[in-house]
Amino acid sequence: MKNIQKPIVLKLKKGNRYSICSCGVSKRLPFCDGKHKDLNQQKNSTYKSIKITPSADVEISLNCANWNE
Ligand code: FES
Repeated sequence: MKNIQKPIVLKLKKGNRYSICSCGVSKRLPFCDGKHKDLNQQKNSTYKSIKITPSADVEISLNCANWNE
């Protein structure tokens, strides 16, 4: 696995709900696909996604030390 070095720039739409992966096992990075539940069972961890619902169209830059590809 290789760490994603650069921040990812996302354009988010007003009122849409986005679920961002914090654990790094999602197949849809940077978005959560629910696989953190399996990881939590295997590793006794407490990962969960970060929810974002922007109040306006916005562009954000984000990165996570757990994201790999
Ligand atoms: S799959 Fe990583 S937080 Fe959901």
